[in-house]
Amino acid sequence: MVVERTFSIVKPDAVRRDLIGTIYQRFEAAGLKVVAAKMLHLDQAKAEGFYAEHEGREFYEPLVKFMTSGPIMVQVLEGENAIAKNREIMGKTNFEEAAPGTIRADFASSVRENCVHGSDSPESASREINYFFTPDEVCAR
Ligand code: TYD
Ligand code: MG
Repeated sequence: MVVERTFSIVKPDAVRRDLIGTIYQRFEAAGLKVVAAKMLHLDQAKAEGFYAEHEGREFYEPLVKFMTSGPIMVQVLEGENAIAKNREIMGKTNFEEAAPGTIRADFASSVRENCVHGSDSPESASREINYFFTPDEVCAR
């Protein structure tokens, strides 16, 4: 098995609802170690750049508005198959289709306000980690 790193966000809805600890517990219980983390409040340009792949979609503007509506936690998670593992414990984008016991099934309140982001490929993991962290901010564990 290959040890990978993936990029994760605890979104504004989950921070507002005091779910940071609960969600970090899900990561650690799944064998995903936090190797970098910080809280920040996205401005519009940073949020638009992060979600650039979705520019032009009907949900893009409300998504950017939501992602800038309050502080978020950004983190790098490390573990075996971290990218797929994190997507698995997050559950599907639409919480109504997410498997029972996943973060989105348990805590999301709408398709947009779905508590967490997770990279979907090695390429996006690399881009997203570098979008928020310098190499010296990621710790060896
Ligand atoms: P996407 O990358 O497709 O989902 P995921 O977060 O599972 O990788 O979409 C990014 C975010 O955009 C998603 O988490 C919530 C929002 N979104 C909507 O609000 N409506 C939609 O129809 C879709 C597809 C996404
Ligand atoms: Mg995505």
